[in-house]
Amino acid sequence: MKVVLIIKTAKNYERNVWIYAYATSPCERQLLSRGLGYAPNLIPIEEALVNIFEALRESHERQRGYAEALVKTHGENKERVEAYGQLKAELQAHETAEERFFYIPLMQYDNGVDLSRHAISEHHEMDELMETLDETEMSSPSWLATAKKLSEKVHHHLKEEENKFFQMAGKLLDEQEKQSLAKEYVKEYEELLAEA
Ligand SMILES: [Fe+2]
Repeated sequence: MKVVLIIKTAKNYERNVWIYAYATSPCERQLLSRGLGYAPNLIPIEEALVNIFEALRESHERQRGYAEALVKTHGENKERVEAYGQLKAELQAHETAEERFFYIPLMQYDNGVDLSRHAISEHHEMDELMETLDETEMSSPSWLATAKKLSEKVHHHLKEEENKFFQMAGKLLDEQEKQSLAKEYVKEYEELLAEA
C-alpha cells in the first residue's frame, strides 16, 4: 500500500497534530482510518493532494465536537466561555473560507446557484444565532436555549452539505478544481482561525 501522510502542527487547533492520510483506493483508505499510527510505511511530506470535500469535512468534525460540548455546559463558567469561543471561531473561519472557495465558485454553474444560496443563507442564520448569544446573559436559561438552536442548526447544515451538496458539487467541479479550491480554502481558513 502506498500512503502519503502529512503531519501538521498549529497552536490554534484543539489537537496539536493533524494527520491527513491518503491512500490510492477507498479500500486502502478504510484500512488506514482503522490502522493509522500503526502502519509502518507512512511517508511524511509537506503537502499532499487534498480535495475540497476532505478539507471541508475536517472542520465539520470539529464543529460537531464543539457544538456538542457547548450544549453540555451549565451556567456561566470557564467551560462554557471556552466551548462557545471555540465554536464561534471555528464557524466564522470555516463559513468565510467555504463561501469564498466553495460556494462562490459553484455559483458559476447553473446547477450550483440554488444550493450555494441555500447554504449561504444557513450560514447567515448561524451568524444571527451567535449574535443573539453575544447579546444574552450567558448564565440565563435563554442563552442555553439559543445555544441548543445553534447546535441543531450546525448539525442540520453539515448533514445537508455532506449528504446532498457535496454530491451535487462533485459533479460540477473537475478534479483539478477540487484540489486547487482545497488549497485556497485551507490557506484562508487557517489565516482566519489564527486571527480569531
Ligand atoms: Fe457550510
